[in-house]
Amino acid sequence: MIIQPSAVSIIQSSFEQIKPNAGRFTRVFYDRLFERDPSLKKLFIRDIREQRKKFFRMLGSIVKNLSNPDELEPKLQDLGSRHDYYSVKREDYRTFFEAFIYTLAAALGNDFDENTRHAWRDFCDYVGAHMCKEIRAEREEIMEQIRAQAEAATAVSAESSSEETVS
Ligand code: HEM
Repeated sequence: MIIQPSAVSIIQSSFEQIKPNAGRFTRVFYDRLFERDPSLKKLFIRDIREQRKKFFRMLGSIVKNLSNPDELEPKLQDLGSRHDYYSVKREDYRTFFEAFIYTLAAALGNDFDENTRHAWRDFCDYVGAHMCKEIRAEREEIMEQIRAQAEAATAVSAESSSEETVS
C-alpha cells in the first residue's frame, strides 16, 4: 500500500499548518480520544503532557518520511509492536483515528476540504496497516477480494467479446 504523491504533499502542507499550534492540537486530540472511549485512559500510565509531545514528534517524523517508505515502514512496525505491548487493540486504532480526523477538521477549518480529508484518511489507513497486524490482514483480504472481482469481470468481458466474434 502506498500513499499517492499528491496526497503526500497535501498531508505535509496541512501538517505545516497545524505545527505552530501543536500544544492545542494534541490537547484537543487526547481530550476527544478519552471522551470517545474513557476506558483508554488507563493505558496511559506515564505523564500525558509528555505523551502529547512524543505523539506529535512521532507524527511529524512519519509525515516527513512518507516519501521514504523503505525507512518509514520498519519504524512503523516497531512502533506497532510497542503498542501491542501497551495493550492497544485493533478497535482502539479506529477510535484513535476518528479522534485524529476530528481534531484535524477542527484545526484546519475551511482548509479541511474533500481532498484533504481523503489524504489524511489514506494516511490513517497506511499508518494503521503498518502498525497493526490485524488491520494489515484485513486490508490484504480486501485487496484480494478486489483482485478476484477484477479478474472475474475481465473473464466475463473476454467471454462476451468472444461470443460477439462467433455470432
Ligand atoms: C498514528 C498512530 C500513533 C502514533 C504516531 C503513536 C505514537 C506514540 C508514541 C511516540 C508513543 C511513546 C512511546 C513509544 O514511542 O513507544 C506512544 C505511546 C503510547 N500510545 Fe501511541 N501512537 C499511535 C497510535 C496509538 C493508538 C491507536 C493508541 C490506542 C489508544 C495509542 C496508545 C498509546 C499508549 C497507551 C502509549 C503508552 C503511553 C504510556 O506509556 O503512558 N497509540 N504512542
